Amino acid sequence: MKNKTVLITGGGSGIGKAAAHLFAEKGHTVYIVGRRGALLEETAASHPGHIIPLKGDVADAGERAKIAAAVGEPLGVLIHNAAILGPITDTLSIPEEEWRRVMEINLNAPLFLTQQLLPVLREARVLHISSGAAHYPIASWGAYCASKAALNMMYRILREEHSRPGIRFGSLRPGIVDTEMQAHIRGGDRRRFPHLEKFHQFYKEGALVPAGEVAAFIYWVVTATDDALFEAEEWDIRDERYLDKWKTK
Ligand SMILES: NC(=O)c1ccc[n+]([C@@H]2O[C@H](COP(=O)([O-])OP(=O)(O)OC[C@H]3O[C@@H](n4cnc5c(N)ncnc54)[C@H](OP(=O)(O)O)[C@@H]3O)[C@@H](O)[C@H]2O)c1
Repeated sequence: MKNKTVLITGGGSGIGKAAAHLFAEKGHTVYIVGRRGALLEETAASHPGHIIPLKGDVADAGERAKIAAAVGEPLGVLIHNAAILGPITDTLSIPEEEWRRVMEINLNAPLFLTQQLLPVLREARVLHISSGAAHYPIASWGAYCASKAALNMMYRILREEHSRPGIRFGSLRPGIVDTEMQAHIRGGDRRRFPHLEKFHQFYKEGALVPAGEVAAFIYWVVTATDDALFEAEEWDIRDERYLDKWKTK
């Protein structure tokens, strides 16, 4: 990889935090974005000068512009990882503003942040963090599933368009990961979420993937694949063809 500078949205927790640590350990400069400044500072503290916190809401056009302006160097990797699950409720009951908020963060922000960063994206890889929920309907996660399905289509469209030489688009499914998002899911209301018990069971059985393992998969996908493989299809952490390439024993 020629350019070692990386930007990760949602870098203050979960998968984004673990990925920021790993990229920094490997010698990259990493910008991390999120709304909670304290979490960003905490993530950055382990690698002073190598992880740079940029506090901001990716759903806000003005804040996206400030984030883009703060990146003062060419970027080699952009990871759109920030997302929210949104309300866990039947879709016909979702208040309009909450539906729109999920779309703003999970779908619109990745497109418009990529647009705003185009001037600094050089020989770059843009990775969308997807979900199984992009591919299977999960009752009571209507906005999340729809946003991730659309994000998957957006990666496929950007990949087909090849509109900017040197910029490649990929997408990656991390599995069921032990992060704040899963804690939020387990905190759902039984009456509104038919699958609640299943998620408690996954947690009790220790079936959740550690965020550090997802970071290792992301790192391998971004830094060790050629362009054709990087963008060929959505990466799935469970894909057995590649396990021995990235998974530490
Ligand atoms: N955990 C899973 O099982 C799982 C499964 C499939 C896919 N994923 C995907 O993995 C990605 C990371 O999620 P995670 O599991 O690591 O959960 P997480 O810990 O909740 O991470 C989400 C991150 O996004 C940030 N974020 C949310 N809204 C934002 C906004 N408007 N502006 C800037 N940052 C924002 C949050 O920080 P602030 O709140 O401080 O802004 C947080 O750091 C997401 O795309 C998620 O959909 C997760």
